[in-house]
This record gives sequence, C-alpha cells and structure tokens, in this order.
Amino acid sequence: MLVSAKEMLNKARDGKYAVGQFNINNLEWTKAILQSAQENNSPVILGVSEGAGKYMCGYHTIVGMVNGMIRDMNITVPVALHLDHGSYDGALTCIEAGFSSVMFDGSHYPFDENVEKTKAVIAIADAKGISVEAEVGAIGGEEDGVIGSGEVADAQECAKIAALGVTMLAAGIGNIHGQYPENGAGLRFDVLAEIQKAAAGMPLVLHGGTGIPADMIKEAISLGVSKINVNTECQLAFAAATREYVLAGKDLKGKGFDPRKLLAPGVEAIKATVKEKMELFGSVGKA
Ligand code: 13P
Repeated sequence: MLVSAKEMLNKARDGKYAVGQFNINNLEWTKAILQSAQENNSPVILGVSEGAGKYMCGYHTIVGMVNGMIRDMNITVPVALHLDHGSYDGALTCIEAGFSSVMFDGSHYPFDENVEKTKAVIAIADAKGISVEAEVGAIGGEEDGVIGSGEVADAQECAKIAALGVTMLAAGIGNIHGQYPENGAGLRFDVLAEIQKAAAGMPLVLHGGTGIPADMIKEAISLGVSKINVNTECQLAFAAATREYVLAGKDLKGKGFDPRKLLAPGVEAIKATVKEKMELFGSVGKA
C-alpha cells in the first residue's frame, strides 16, 4: 500500500538521514527502484513529473502500475508516489487519481499567489492524508522545459510557506536540475542554515541531486535536508549501459534483441545508482 511521505520524512529528519526521491519513466524504472528499496530495506519516494506522467499514459495508469507492483513484488518498505513539480491542476488530478503525495510548485507565481494556491492544495490533500511539498524560490537548471537560474530562497518566505502546514519544503540554495556543471558555485549552506531555522524543523527537500558531491550531500543532511531528488543520474546510467550493450553487438547475438535482454543492463545500472544514493543518504535499513 502506498503511504504519505510525512512519517518517513519526519523520521529521516529526526534520524539525520534523507529519503531519496527517484523519478520514474516506465515500468522498468519503477521495478528497479522498488527492488532496490526492498533489498536495501529503505523507504523510498517515486517521483513523477507532469511530463513523465503524460509519457506513461496518465496518472491512473501510474497509480495502477505502482499499486500492482507493490502487491506482486511483495514490497513491504514504505513507498510514497509523489507528483514532482506539480501545477495546481496537476496536483488536484493526482490527489484524485490515488497518489499519496504531491508537490505543488508555485515558486514561479508572485509570492502571495504561491501562498494562496499552496493553502488550497493543502486543504484538499490533508483531508485524504496526502503529503504536500511546496517550493519557495526557483531551483536552477532545466526540468520539463522550465529553466531556472540557480536561485536562492528567501528565509522569510520559507517561514511563511512552512507555517501553512506543508509536509516538506523545497527551497533553492543554488542547486540545479540536471548534470552539475564543472564550474558550479556549490550549495549555499549559509542560506540553508537560515532556512532551517525559519522553517522551524520542517523536513527540507534538496532538488537536483544529480552530481552533487558526497560531502555537500552530507552537509545538507546535517542542516535539515530529509528528502533528496535524483532523476538525471539514473537516466545517464541507463543510457550508458544500454549503449554499451548495443555497441558490443549483443542485440545481434541470439535473442539479444528481446526487450527483456536489451533493457536488462540499463535496469541493473539504475539499481546500482539508486542503491549507491541510498547508502550516501543514509536511508539503508531505515524502512
Ligand atoms: P536531477 O535531475 O538533477 O537529479 O534533479 C531531479 C529533481 O530535482 C526532480 O525534482
């Protein structure tokens, strides 16, 4: 059964580790992440962007697939199914479709509008026991065609949004989506420390987890980050393993063209990436 992200994130905050949100793209992705979580006895959050939602036919398909997998694969660790960077309508649609957690990303609205819309989403989600992530200050990089510039959030705005009763808060601290640039300025831990105080102990979310060096991840966790989102790194690992298989001519040997064989190295690569992140985030054995 899917669970809200609230309990697992409060536990992570108290235990000084982070739960990974790994974005899903298809059945293989979802299976690989659920297997990794179960084998690592770790809680996990499956992230679905609106673009990935459309790609997978829609939110009902995803809810059906994930619930079916939890049952058929005997998954016993806590799993939250979470809308990533949701619009207002997207959040409401996911709540109706059976997601257990949603992000309403109102960071591109004027602040007062972000507050009003976040409040409205919370009212609807709360009634169903669904967790809500809100965002203050755009996060840099590109996600589904939206480009931000590595902005940092204002601590006072964070305090106001946190006080609305959100479950977890995403706040820009110079992090970016996608591959971390060679000349990246790093994370603003001074801002994170201020946000931690302003948000009064609320679990904080670090987006753009791909390529952030291990020492920065550890420092972020020590300053209240309890959820870390990873997407691009799994995609890169999947693509590299698939490329190697094809370039080695394996798809041309025997039944190497069978999708169950062709996609297997990519699935193993996703599993290795997810497990490595769970170790780094400290969530192994915390289910
Ligand atoms: P990356 O693609 O940089 O890992 O970011 C993922 C993310 O933040 C999803 O919201």
